Amino acid sequence: MLKRTHNCGQLRADDIGQEVVLAGWAHSYRDHGGLVFIDLRDREGLTQLVFNPESNPRAHELARSVRTEWVIAARGRVRHRGAGLENPKLATGAIEVDTHELEILNKALTPPFEVDAAERIGEELRLRYRYIDLRRPWMHRIIKTRDWATAVIRQYHREHGFYEIETPILAKSTPEGARDFLVPSRLSAGAFYALPQSPQLFKQVLMVSGMDKYFQIARCFRDEDPRADRQVEFTQLDVEMSFIDMEDIIAVTEGCFARVWKEILGVEVPLPIERISYDQAIRDYGIDRPDIRFDMKLKEITDIAAECAFQVFTKTVQSKGVIKGLCAPGAGEFSRSDIERGLTDFVGQYGARGLAWFKVTAGPDGHGAQLTSSIAKFFSESQHQQIIQRFEARPGDLILLVAGDADTVNKALAPLRCKLGEDLGLIDPDQYRFVWVVDFPLMEWNPQENRWDSLHHPFTAPRPEDIAMLDEDPHRVRSQAYDIVLNGNEVAGGSIRIHQPELQAKIFSLLGITPQNAEERFGFFLKALRYGAPPHGGIAWGIDRLIMLLVGTDNIRDVIAFPKTQKGQCLLTEAPGGVDPGQLAELHIEIRPPGPIS
Ligand code: AMO
Repeated sequence: MLKRTHNCGQLRADDIGQEVVLAGWAHSYRDHGGLVFIDLRDREGLTQLVFNPESNPRAHELARSVRTEWVIAARGRVRHRGAGLENPKLATGAIEVDTHELEILNKALTPPFEVDAAERIGEELRLRYRYIDLRRPWMHRIIKTRDWATAVIRQYHREHGFYEIETPILAKSTPEGARDFLVPSRLSAGAFYALPQSPQLFKQVLMVSGMDKYFQIARCFRDEDPRADRQVEFTQLDVEMSFIDMEDIIAVTEGCFARVWKEILGVEVPLPIERISYDQAIRDYGIDRPDIRFDMKLKEITDIAAECAFQVFTKTVQSKGVIKGLCAPGAGEFSRSDIERGLTDFVGQYGARGLAWFKVTAGPDGHGAQLTSSIAKFFSESQHQQIIQRFEARPGDLILLVAGDADTVNKALAPLRCKLGEDLGLIDPDQYRFVWVVDFPLMEWNPQENRWDSLHHPFTAPRPEDIAMLDEDPHRVRSQAYDIVLNGNEVAGGSIRIHQPELQAKIFSLLGITPQNAEERFGFFLKALRYGAPPHGGIAWGIDRLIMLLVGTDNIRDVIAFPKTQKGQCLLTEAPGGVDPGQLAELHIEIRPPGPIS
């Protein structure tokens, strides 16, 4: 067998004259009557092989039988392609290999799609034949970037004194709030492991063990509906430190983000990364993961609207709702149907009952600004001017308003702001804007369940100065939690933890977790806290989301070699699948026919 000496994608003009052996997949094949050309592909790129019937008749004859995606090896001499024949689009475009020996290492069935055409092929077929999809240069680039980023992250944490420690996959239910994946136990009939939603409790136990600084590139499992940026099985960089405060975690984390951005993209991330409070994020952007690459902040006009004659607004104010909106610069040219169908339907998907609008035009004498709209007549001239001022609006702008309860209004305006930012070209796609969101509330009220829920998880510490409000005003208690957001994506989140068992018990009781329930779910952990837990805290990054941002894709499946579909299936292996009745019997499991769950 011919033994490879070089990679296809790495040959350059410097290699001219050298004899090389290349091996890979026949990417394309052209028979020009006399000469045969094969583009040979390996993970580094393509090289053109030339077969000449006169100088190398045997190799030429064999080359004519080759079909795309066959695996071949070729020996030949690197030469210049000849004046005018270079391909400037290809890294190896100046050279070719005059091939004198060819070996067919393996034939291949006709592929279900051409590697080059994969981008235009439906994702389902690509996932079914993932091994062919992964041959694409774009996928190679992603896999390489992922390997590189995790290597930089590992290196950084080792340099900063962290130990990499693995924690179990067959574990007990963890507290991230999603549904668990369960694994039945053969040896303990009727008992189940839960796959970890994160290594949260183990990493805290490691702090009780005195490990001081821990990290892990950890696989996490959450049985929730996958989305464009969410998988049922995903990867975190998980970090925990002892004897530190929030500033230490922030410093280590942003230093690592800056290192990754510098090494992989050559981009300098200015440190320290700016911070905004949760309240400010909700007020200005309607969301706790704001995209701060563009301005267009939300503004509230509830006070002005309370005095107007437009009933939709006044009724909203009476029922303690808010009127909030944004001013889209230069969008005054949008047609009525753009607004009343396009944008109104858009916010409707997020629960808004309507979208009021004003176009801002120049004042009658060409100076100043005025509002025009079918609802303008319900507002006095002075109210028009107040609205213009509140939004700092200029002629040519479009003011869009949503009325309703604060939560619905924010949930509708936040995506509207991002959509308009994109549609109006306000976002520079090459910019990376990191921001820390801090001062989260510790808990939020869950009206369906009639109880408080943790905003992060139940081990998050309250701010010491707010602990006194836990009994009277739990909603005002802020936590020592922090999320880092990049271009509107939550890429990491963490907190300082509760290390005092009494405080932990109090938080559980506020969250409606009874002592018995806490004991059953996390008894081992609560016990560990009583054996000398140091003050500690940590963070976890979403590695898949990080890679999405590094390579510029909005599909999480692109950055995972073998991802799951929206239904949580692996189309390559057809998991999840049925199992042998004998296996079920061993696991003491009986399958009932599908039907309503009682
Ligand atoms: P959290 O649940 O916020 O925190 O997760 C941390 C980060 O993981 C990423 N992430 C996901 N990525 C892909 N698919 C998913 N289903 C998914 N869910 C989360 C996000 C998120 O910011 N134990 C805590 C961390 C801590 O407190 O230290 C935790 O898991 O980018």
